[in-house]
Amino acid sequence: MAIPVSEPPPAGPFEAYRGLPDEILRDHIEGIRRRMGPRLVILGHHYQQEGVIAHADLRGDSYQLSRSAADREGCEAIAFCGVHFMAETADILANRPDKVASRGGRRVTVVLPDMAAGCSMADMAAIEQVEDAWQDLGDVIDTSDVTPVTYINSAASLKAFCGRHGGIVCTSSNARAVLDWAFARGRRVLFFPDQHLGRNTARAMGIPLTEMTVWNPHDPTLGGNSRERLAGSRVILWQGHCSVHAMFRPEHVDALRAHVPGIRILVHPECSMEVVDKANLVGSTSFIIRQVEQAPPGTAWGIGTELHLVKRLEQEHPAQSIRFLSPTVCMCATMYRIDLAHLCWSLEHLERGRPVNVIRVDDETARWAVTALERMLAVR
Ligand code: 13P
Ligand code: SF4
Repeated sequence: MAIPVSEPPPAGPFEAYRGLPDEILRDHIEGIRRRMGPRLVILGHHYQQEGVIAHADLRGDSYQLSRSAADREGCEAIAFCGVHFMAETADILANRPDKVASRGGRRVTVVLPDMAAGCSMADMAAIEQVEDAWQDLGDVIDTSDVTPVTYINSAASLKAFCGRHGGIVCTSSNARAVLDWAFARGRRVLFFPDQHLGRNTARAMGIPLTEMTVWNPHDPTLGGNSRERLAGSRVILWQGHCSVHAMFRPEHVDALRAHVPGIRILVHPECSMEVVDKANLVGSTSFIIRQVEQAPPGTAWGIGTELHLVKRLEQEHPAQSIRFLSPTVCMCATMYRIDLAHLCWSLEHLERGRPVNVIRVDDETARWAVTALERMLAVR
């Protein structure tokens, strides 16, 4: 019979942490936070599960977390409770050459507690595919007139591509302002990897669907487009999506409205245009939280975004009536991989100066990615 283990071994292998009781893991995490003080910053995205986000020094949407990684003074290590692209962004911004120089050459160590915490949408655009698309586009239209815009949910190499080609990064909370910036510079935009955020934002700006097209990276014939279609398009949307937000359907909105008269539908812009068209309000995770916080008691909401955030809102606002928009479970399975065991295990190693799961973007990629990120941070 296995002897029950109740203490994590100091910086042992991960397997020794799996299955430890939550109280033990919580105590250890808090002990490390106390001992490391401001040298350690734990960042948590709003989709993170309850037990984990409870330990975050700062919770936020992708934009807020990237800003905080850019600004944080006195921190030596960041444990990012989010997904891979967020930790990469934190590494790039926290370790800009000027920041590293001001610390006498010391880098901030960024760790992702579980390396399997990726983003399926980010994985839908590989740098080789984007470079091929750019070259193919150049055979049909003048690419000096195209601004590449990458959603922050993308690999660092794509951000670097944007940096090199006069482009920019956006998040769900600044996509409109970023597209305004892009259209002030050129006639067209290549938007990747999320077609929905691109389409929803461009439509809200008054760009008709007839001036948008979708680029399928798996179709070798101009991404599935005719030359005329590309020539007539102002927005070229990469055919990528979030598998979590794709599960919200317009019929879910209809069903809730029929069931709860007066219900307000609040969704994330990664939802399809058909869902967004039926919603009352559309915005980033922080926007969604703000709407609920500001609403009077008794407001009925149908919310279309990741399950953990909706459940948290339900618990924190018992005076409001909050429903999940979909009848099925839509959760970010990769974000959910960050659990107490992985957080405790990675913090134990950090404290002992033997970090595991370090996210380190190579200098050349970081140099160009920071260019595109700083353009975004400068946009108001
Ligand atoms: P926010 O930028 O709104 O936090 O969204 C991030 C994300 O991954 C949504 O799926
Ligand atoms: Fe990526 Fe979707 Fe998860 Fe957001 S919810 S991190 S877009 S897979």
